[in-house]
Amino acid sequence: MSVVKINVLTVPEPMREELERRFAGRAGLVEEADGFEGFELLRPVEGTDRYLVYTRWRSEEDFQRWTESRAFAEGHAQAASERGAAEGHGHGHGGPAASGAELWSFEVVEQAEPKG
Ligand code: HEM
Repeated sequence: MSVVKINVLTVPEPMREELERRFAGRAGLVEEADGFEGFELLRPVEGTDRYLVYTRWRSEEDFQRWTESRAFAEGHAQAASERGAAEGHGHGHGGPAASGAELWSFEVVEQAEPKG
């Protein structure tokens, strides 16, 4: 059964645009990861002010392998260093856009897709 891993990001208001810009310019490497089933960046509207990075994986092992991979490190180059912000898009704001991150883990129990 698939697993869902959600990275919950606390993003100060002035950094929200920068965070979205970084994701828009993301490495696009996760698509190649074994067992990757999908990802969504979710912008908060009501009930929370934290961004969710929703990811789904074939198994726990596939997710763990990805987090230990070079692709994960490369996919987080902007988040990890001042360089990403400075070089990537030239809008200043060095350093991480998020001030905090928390990982939530779930097992998919039931699922449905639209017919046809
Ligand atoms: C300290 C923890 C983390 C922070 C602050 C963070 C933040 C970010 C940021 C700003 C990006 C945009 C790309 C870049 O920075 O180069 C990114 C990419 C991404 N993050 Fe995270 N992240 C963290 C950990 C995680 C974890 C644990 C997951 C899995 C649930 C995750 C899932 C993703 C995915 C799927 C991408 C796109 C990578 C690609 O395109 O290959 N992140 N993250």
